[in-house]
This record gives sequence, structure tokens and C-alpha cells, in this order.
Amino acid sequence: MKSTAAEDFDPKDYRRTLGQFATGVTVVTTRGQDGRFIGLTVNSFTSVSLQPPLVLWCLVRQSPSLAAFQEASHFAINILAAGQHGLSRQFASQVPDRFAGVELEEGKAGVPRLKGVAAQLVCRNVGQFDGGDHVIFLGQVEEYLRSEEKPLLFHSGRYCSLTPHPDFPE
Ligand SMILES: Cc1cc2nc3c(=O)[nH]c(=O)nc-3n(C[C@H](O)[C@H](O)[C@H](O)COP(=O)(O)O)c2cc1C
Repeated sequence: MKSTAAEDFDPKDYRRTLGQFATGVTVVTTRGQDGRFIGLTVNSFTSVSLQPPLVLWCLVRQSPSLAAFQEASHFAINILAAGQHGLSRQFASQVPDRFAGVELEEGKAGVPRLKGVAAQLVCRNVGQFDGGDHVIFLGQVEEYLRSEEKPLLFHSGRYCSLTPHPDFPE
């Protein structure tokens, strides 16, 4: 295994290295002060604390959605189900309306909640922190729901689905 020191980082190679960390895929949504629905695909989501229930996710500073998330009182973390890779692509794209054709309900503070997800966390926006070229958003979970759907996974730049480890059959 080759080791690379900070001064020799190649951005593509570094990203490939981070891609070795498999994640789920979420769509983080909110409602702008002008009433518009805002949402984007995010895999930087993680749980931080159980008591109180805190989670975080990171948004790139150049995002046109940054101001809306900074001003929002609430946001929803929609944890996508295995079959929802189309939604992941739609919410990572530059289409004029990412919510076109998307089945949703409105939750707390008018936040859009996607239907058919593996799980969903409705969060109060409790903190924003400097994270270099990203802003770290901290949410306190006020409500959650969970379905029996298997989650969508992301690894090495590709969508994947869950199979049990052969050493741990059911
Ligand atoms: C699987 C996946 C995970 C992503 N995770 C993040 C993330 O954690 N933070 C982020 O800012 N962008 C992330 N992106 C990129 C955004 O979804 C994409 O750039 C989107 O266009 C940004 O929306 P915006 O134009 O409203 O900023 C991810 C994209 C994909 C496909």
C-alpha cells in the first residue's frame, strides 16, 4: 500500500481514497424563506450524539442552497431506499426543479419529506460550523420514521446494494 503525504495530495486520488468509505445516501431537504423547496443529495451525513439526538451533514460553501439552509429553522434527512437511485441522481443534478415528479409530504416548518424512503429524520437546525470548503450543519432530531426498505449504498463513486457478509449469514 502506497502512502501519500499532505504536500503530495492529488485531488482525484484523495477522493478515490475517501471513496473506500462506503456510505448510505440521503437527500437533505428544507423550505426556503420564499416558500421554495430546496434539496440535494448528501452522503456526508452521520450521527453525532444519542442523548440529545444530534446528527451532522456538510454542504459545500459554493452551493446555491447554502443561504436557504443557513436561514432554515428545520431540515429533513431523507435516507434513500435501494430503489431510489433515480432520486439520488435527480437531487445531485442541475435540473430546474429537483422536486418535479417527486412524491412528498410537508412536515414541520413546511419541510418537504420524501415518500418511500428507508428512514427519515426531521431536525431542528441547531448549529453551523466552519468545515474548510464546506459548512457543517448540526441538527437535533425532533421526529423520525423508519420503513422496512433496504438502504441505497454508495461506494467508490458507484451505487451499490446491501448483501450480508458471507462470514455472517443470517
Ligand atoms: C452520492 C452523492 C453524495 C453527495 N454528497 C454531498 C455532500 O455531502 N455535500 C455536498 O455539498 N454535496 C454532495 N453531493 C453533491 C451534490 O448533491 C450536488 O453537487 C448538488 O448539485 C448540489 O446541490 P446545490 O446545487 O443545491 O448545491 C453529493 C452527490 C452525490 C451523487
